[in-house]
Amino acid sequence: MRSIKSMSLEGKRVLVRVDFNVPLDDQQNITDDTRIQEVLPTLKYVLDYRGKLIIMSHMGRPKGKVVEKLSLQPVAMRLARLLKQEVELAPDCIGPDVEKQVEAMKKGDILLLENLRFHEGEEKNDRDFASALAGLCDVYINDAFAVSHRKHASVCAIADQKEEKGAGFLLIKELKYFQEAMDNPKRPLVAIVGGAKVSSKFSALENMLSKVNKFIIGGAMANTFLKSMGYDLGKSMVEDDLVKASGRLRNRAIEEGIKFYLPVDAVVAQELDPKAETKIVPVQEIPEGWMALDIGPATSTLFDLALYNAKTIVWNGPMGVFEMDAFSRGTLSMVYSVADSYALSIVGGGDTDVAVHTSGQKDRISYISTGGGAFLSLLEGKPLPGVESLGGSAITE
Ligand code: 3PG
Repeated sequence: MRSIKSMSLEGKRVLVRVDFNVPLDDQQNITDDTRIQEVLPTLKYVLDYRGKLIIMSHMGRPKGKVVEKLSLQPVAMRLARLLKQEVELAPDCIGPDVEKQVEAMKKGDILLLENLRFHEGEEKNDRDFASALAGLCDVYINDAFAVSHRKHASVCAIADQKEEKGAGFLLIKELKYFQEAMDNPKRPLVAIVGGAKVSSKFSALENMLSKVNKFIIGGAMANTFLKSMGYDLGKSMVEDDLVKASGRLRNRAIEEGIKFYLPVDAVVAQELDPKAETKIVPVQEIPEGWMALDIGPATSTLFDLALYNAKTIVWNGPMGVFEMDAFSRGTLSMVYSVADSYALSIVGGGDTDVAVHTSGQKDRISYISTGGGAFLSLLEGKPLPGVESLGGSAITE
């Protein structure tokens, strides 16, 4: 995989695939622009080297139809402010009007194409759609780590058609941090895995069995493991069909010498309601009709101790229903434990980044990935199609 640094850009039409799938509120205001901020080095690099900068992204899941609310207009405005330069928003991402706009571009101009997913061809990895995009540029750059696990036209089919292609700084940074943490880590390597469903994390856990020294399991997915140990979890969410498999996975981990930490107490309520009455109980004593919605304080202390000697930490998934204040303490306390550690700490996926941002501790974490599904794919040990299309994750500068 070539880096953007090795490519000649002056006067060239440089098409950069980014992931501007940012959260918007009801008034179309961007509520978190991290994904825009994170690609600025690549965008500025193209401008510094006097390329004609064409940017493309998806937003949401419009399923091949034009959905006005999912226009990239708010992104164009934010980008213009961040780059202190005019950013023109094209009416579409392909077609004669867009081609004319590209033709009229001068060195150092910026054109943002409209949402790629307004066309069915994007998610179908359609060759013709990809060649229409490819025709707009001389150089193709992928800096969209967060969507590189998708076999979509703007990340795969286009790269297969383009000779001059390479990776942007964010994509390279994401892969380097991940490789440092998982392939050649300073040990002990601790994986913190949380979130609601063990089913969505099972392959990641299996893949990490051969890599980590400790597992710390939180969130509702811990319930399935606890059930496999014979605990009665009241009304708590449990994936019954995975109880046996979870028990086997835990046994395998222990046989391989991995320390396996599960919650010892929980914040419980009768309803998933921010105003519900709550209490803290040992996991052995969850009352009938109550459910575990966060880890308790004893668990936070235990997990904090388990992180004490960590040299590398990889964290995916919250410890409880952290969107509700009443059940957010476990996750927030985990953010502080990770931030206080001396380890290389990498956080990504499953809204874990949101928890870190809310806590105000983001500068004390070594690296926060911009990827959700893409980060999980890496944890599962799967190659990312977008990276494969660039020639694989080994970087030739
Ligand atoms: C993300 O937000 O994880 C990426 O933008 C990918 O979005 P998708 O899950 O809709 O493909």
